[in-house]
Amino acid sequence: MRDVAGKAALITGGGSGIGRGTVLALAGAGAHVAVADIDAGRAGEVATEGSARGADCIPVTLDVNRQEDFDAARDVMLERFGRIDIVMNNVGLIAAGLPEHIPLSEWERIVSTNLLSVVRSNAAFLPLLLEQGSGHIVNTASTAGLFAYAYERLPYSATKAGVIAMSEALALYLRPRGVGITCLCPGPVMTNIGEGFKMWGPPVRMRGPGKDLAPLAPEVVGEQVLDAIRTDRFLLLTHPELQEVLIARARDPEPWLAGQIADISSES
Ligand SMILES: NC(=O)c1ccc[n+]([C@@H]2O[C@H](COP(=O)([O-])OP(=O)(O)OC[C@H]3O[C@@H](n4cnc5c(N)ncnc54)[C@H](O)[C@@H]3O)[C@@H](O)[C@H]2O)c1
Repeated sequence: MRDVAGKAALITGGGSGIGRGTVLALAGAGAHVAVADIDAGRAGEVATEGSARGADCIPVTLDVNRQEDFDAARDVMLERFGRIDIVMNNVGLIAAGLPEHIPLSEWERIVSTNLLSVVRSNAAFLPLLLEQGSGHIVNTASTAGLFAYAYERLPYSATKAGVIAMSEALALYLRPRGVGITCLCPGPVMTNIGEGFKMWGPPVRMRGPGKDLAPLAPEVVGEQVLDAIRTDRFLLLTHPELQEVLIARARDPEPWLAGQIADISSES
């Protein structure tokens, strides 16, 4: 999709952080945006910010755990914009704690919010995108789903790996049918992600994907997403240097894993 001007986008979790950054980037490039968030106040503020860039941005109150909210958002967009071109599935929550301390009920909550949310979105939007034979999906995963650097957020890592696998397999299906897909794997980004953070058992130290990674502003990531949509790029690493880690692991997983364990041991 070389030009997003006049196109219509939905962004879940659009009221803050990476979602907000992408709303502003798309609106700045002339796209109309439905800012979908469980927090109606935030959705409204970001829609106002986006509209100030000259595009038509509307707030949509949506909980990604509810299929009916996705269906209603689709209907609202068709009524307001008359079209849907870009869908960004961007909500993700972190549950932390040692593996034996995170209960099944919490796993179920994180699987529903981080992974099944994309399934719900697909149910609402894929038939339409396939029928028109055009459009672009962006799924926000995480570096945590690409390789293991911590053991204290298993539901997060597992669901993000699921988003990556689903997105890659969907690329096989969608691209030949005219629909693009990007899997965004952010490294550290300065957002409000800590707000939805839940700790189980005694507090554990949170480990990042790499000591030397500079945290990015969400507006920078928004521009990266816009570029990936325009160039139909599948894997979007906000920190491209992490590709070296993926190469090292693929070359020989055993010494790579031993190295990760040694790093963690040396820190504790
Ligand atoms: N910030 C980082 O360093 C980082 C790194 C890797 C991946 N990510 C991923 O980026 C995505 C966006 O996170 P962020 O860092 O911008 O966080 P954020 O907290 O700044 O924004 C998340 C937004 O999602 C909304 N939200 C929460 N639950 C919702 C629900 N059930 N339905 C609809 N909206 C809901 C919140 O109200 C908030 O506005 C997440 O999937 C996260 O896992 C973030």
